Amino acid sequence: MGDGDRYSIETRGLTKRYGKFTAVDGFDLRVEPGEVYGLLGPNGAGKTTTIKMLCGLLRMTNGEARLLGESVPDKKISSRLGYMPQETALYEGLTAHQNIAFYGRVFGLTRTQINDRERQLLEFVDLTRWRDELVQNLSGGMKHRVSLACALIHQPPLLFLDEPTVGVDPELRASFWEYFDELKAGGVTILITTHYMDEASHCDRVGFMRSGRLIAEGTPQEILREAGASSLEDAFLALSREADRR
Ligand SMILES: Nc1ncnc2c1ncn2[C@@H]1O[C@H](COP(=O)(O)OP(=O)(O)OP(=O)(O)O)[C@@H](O)[C@H]1O
Ligand SMILES: [Mg+2]
Repeated sequence: MGDGDRYSIETRGLTKRYGKFTAVDGFDLRVEPGEVYGLLGPNGAGKTTTIKMLCGLLRMTNGEARLLGESVPDKKISSRLGYMPQETALYEGLTAHQNIAFYGRVFGLTRTQINDRERQLLEFVDLTRWRDELVQNLSGGMKHRVSLACALIHQPPLLFLDEPTVGVDPELRASFWEYFDELKAGGVTILITTHYMDEASHCDRVGFMRSGRLIAEGTPQEILREAGASSLEDAFLALSREADRR
């Protein structure tokens, strides 16, 4: 595909079919290094399916994808990806610390590296005092925060965050975005899904997905201009109505 390593994420004709149903339909995506790209769209649009195919958790039916210059799926790059799933994948019977350390070991970090990183991450997700609590005793938003710490433990240069701020209170959501901006400043590429339009406006570019297809893409300002709307929310409602009419 294209010019090799220029993009952190590059897909061509990415497709997922379940029997006769097409969940992702010929999706072409290009995300540049250091970009924060927001994948938006209604429930069932195909966002999670796209991310799972990119992370090698779901086999694509058709098409191709490259991440950090490597064809997907490829075990070599899994250690360079961070993935925060929409449905948190934590061990409920283990503590926050044990979960984070588990992911650290999976990625081959030493105990000292894990402890140093974990300290920073727990502070960032504001869970330091819950470090030794069993995950099953944490609130929904707290579990989400542990899950984010797990995705970041190995400092991956490419991050897939599937609705990372669902159930997270407004103050902490704002601090998450500050942190994402810091990661971006350090050259990390982020693909993020969200249903919060105030968050979408933080992204460098957004893509609006519907029925498995990308129906609009651009900077938040471009999307507003094209839709003649004053908010992203209105822009997307207008795009959806237009798609329905077709
Ligand atoms: N295993 C499966 N078998 C059949 N259909 C599936 C399967 N997994 C997902 N789908 C369908 O694929 C479509 C896309 O689902 P996906 O989870 O990617 O949507 P999404 O954009 O992430 O939605 P949400 O905003 O609700 O998270 C949905 O219609 C869903 O029902
Ligand atoms: Mg989803």
